[in-house]
Amino acid sequence: MTSLASARILLVVGGGVAAYKSLDLARRLRERGARVRAVITRAGKHFIAPLSLAALTGEKVFEDLFSLTDEAEMGHIELSRDADLIVVAPATADLLAKAAHGLADDLASTLLLATDKKILAAPAMNLRMWLAPATRRNVAALRDDGMLFIGPNDGSMACGEFGPGRMAEPLEIVAAVEAALSSPTTIPLPPSFVRGGALAGKRVVITSGPTHEPVDPVRYIANRSSGKQGHAIARAAAEAGAEVVLVSGPVAIPDPSGVDVVRVETAREMLAAVESALPADIFIAAAAVADWRVEAAGEKLKKGADGPPRFALVENPDILATVAARASGRPRLVVGFAAETEKVVEHARAKLARKKCDLVVANDVSPATGIMGGDANEVSLVGPDGVESWPKLGKDEVARRLVAEFARRLSSGQPDEPSR
Ligand code: CTP
Repeated sequence: MTSLASARILLVVGGGVAAYKSLDLARRLRERGARVRAVITRAGKHFIAPLSLAALTGEKVFEDLFSLTDEAEMGHIELSRDADLIVVAPATADLLAKAAHGLADDLASTLLLATDKKILAAPAMNLRMWLAPATRRNVAALRDDGMLFIGPNDGSMACGEFGPGRMAEPLEIVAAVEAALSSPTTIPLPPSFVRGGALAGKRVVITSGPTHEPVDPVRYIANRSSGKQGHAIARAAAEAGAEVVLVSGPVAIPDPSGVDVVRVETAREMLAAVESALPADIFIAAAAVADWRVEAAGEKLKKGADGPPRFALVENPDILATVAARASGRPRLVVGFAAETEKVVEHARAKLARKKCDLVVANDVSPATGIMGGDANEVSLVGPDGVESWPKLGKDEVARRLVAEFARRLSSGQPDEPSR
């Protein structure tokens, strides 16, 4: 996918004259629909004000590795992973040297070391610094490690010299960002590190995204689900060592890496794909499945003298309830979601009982919360043992915590072994 529309970019601004162009870069990325979070180094603050970056990104700017308030809101590990791509612009000789040697003495360098995402660097420095053997060695090592580079361009520099060292122009960087996003940007851990993960050896089937229910060959009924939370859970389960099948409705976000993705359109296709992916240890129904479909017309419906068409709605199969009711081969842990706009916990409790699942992850999807389609989520876990409410967190962090909770419930034998 090359679109920036749902991309999350972490922009690391180093200390160089070119930092002023990073303000324009942030603006260009946002114009194209990306969410941009910025980190600025101590040196970067000599060139541009964090306030300008905050204004142009529309987000808090992170500056300090040891800031207690920043860490409480979003830890540096989460910050480094809650992005689709990290863009370092300007990437100074110092930042590149630190990254090449794995130094981590400030927030920017720590993020570069801790991330599981691709990094795109836009170097900017004096031409002697760019041509210096040390910088060339560092850049070669970083390229070998998978870091992507755009520029530097030739041109005259602030210091009066002419040659390579000017940071690429914002639109060139935007094009490089789009190219980087067109392939998976998460770098999975080597399997040897995942084998000991909390879900090692377990199979997880998860539904995500909306379903599209055709009305005629060109129209369909849909909903606003982005698939972000379901996809994040699939990715987190794979990172925890599980073998994951993700059954996804139509979404505009990249496939998580390390996951087997089955694409479907309708609720009935989703059920069929889930049934053929079972048996599994855990089933997670994170999709916003359309409750109803219409008997689709074979040809495009036309306006006529009889007025608007009347649709008889037919109820779709309930995938979660069907899986939870399996007499044999029921996953040991069946997890549902409850997307509500009022009485969230009360409705979630009713769903837990009605659909006979083991746990319901409830959230408030009223438009004012910004949860549907957004990057954060505030969930409550509703189980037979009670309710646990979590603070508002990034969807990736919610996913990691949920996976840890699922693993805990599975290993503590909750729920009881199902009757097979
Ligand atoms: N679900 C499903 N199949 C359906 C409908 C819902 O698997 N046909 C699952 C969803 O993936 C979610 C849970 O059931 O895990 C609850 O979905 P939700 O849309 O909140 O509930 P509904 O079944 O539509 O109930 P209500 O109409 O009361 O909101």
